[in-house]
Amino acid sequence: MLDSTKKTQSVARALHAIAPPSEDRSFAQDVVLGLSSAPKQLPCKYFYDARGSALFDRITELPEYYPTRTEIALMRDHAAKMAATIGARALLVELGSGSSVKTRLLLDELERPAGYVPIDISAEHLQQAASSIAADYPELEVMPVAADFTRGFVIPRPRAGAARSVMYFPGSTIGNFTRERALELLRAIARFVGANEDERPGGLLLGFDLVKPADVLVRAYDDAQGVTAAFNLNLLERINRELDGDFDLAQFEHHAVWNPKLARIELYLRSTRAQVVHAAGRSFEFAAGELTLTEYSHKYTRDSILSLAHQAGFERSTIWTDPEQRFGVGLFQLAD
Ligand code: TRP
Repeated sequence: MLDSTKKTQSVARALHAIAPPSEDRSFAQDVVLGLSSAPKQLPCKYFYDARGSALFDRITELPEYYPTRTEIALMRDHAAKMAATIGARALLVELGSGSSVKTRLLLDELERPAGYVPIDISAEHLQQAASSIAADYPELEVMPVAADFTRGFVIPRPRAGAARSVMYFPGSTIGNFTRERALELLRAIARFVGANEDERPGGLLLGFDLVKPADVLVRAYDDAQGVTAAFNLNLLERINRELDGDFDLAQFEHHAVWNPKLARIELYLRSTRAQVVHAAGRSFEFAAGELTLTEYSHKYTRDSILSLAHQAGFERSTIWTDPEQRFGVGLFQLAD
């Protein structure tokens, strides 16, 4: 018999270690803290209210935003091999599941998966995606979890038990963590998929964006139609709506830059003039041209992702890339 209580507790503990308890702050506290620091910053997880999630879905379809369609093509071309390597009766746990398009390509190939646990911060988005997967895969036990995966949460176990657990982390979301935090997250994932009441140690299927010329990268985060700009500015609208803010959206603009030293795209909101803004019962001064950091997206090379996975304890690696070397999907497994 599986000891599910022990398992879920150890996962909650493992993932809790990623975000120290001091970071268990509310939206209001995070906004006050972020706008009081120098340089100013706002946590990117607050992008994903209902409107933000809808805008994000539009980003993934933009001509300039190559990652989503490249990753989908990679899954189309290689999901059968990935599934064969993963093996039968795997529990698939997906971090930041969004609309689950790529997951379907994997589920179509997996042999009798033991269950599917989509985890997403946007509860509404999650419910829709989970119900549509459950409808299309009637044999599959679907167990959605609405959670901020940078905090502790509990992963349900499938009724049937699992041969192994595989974490699916697509979409280059790993890029939204600093290298340090990415390593912590991968270590927590390695602990989870290595937990011993599965029959075999598991693995991580990870989608990551590759380093490439700066102009291509910047365009992907600063599209001609301004959808990414609207997505970025929606954070201020959300503050206005939920925290009684008075941001004038016409006085802030979207700004994307490539930071070659840290191999990352940085997204900012730039104050177009000196101004004072109120939110969450506080006031914040912005200088003309002042930047507020809202997101970064780290890019990897084959070597840098391999080294990260190995440092996290994954010993066996297979990496698939598209012919133009734009995007990578790696299957990183623990040793048997
Ligand atoms: N993780 C993806 C990336 O970094 C998607 C993403 C997250 C994104 N935040 C974003 C895309 C902000 C555009 C803007 O590419």
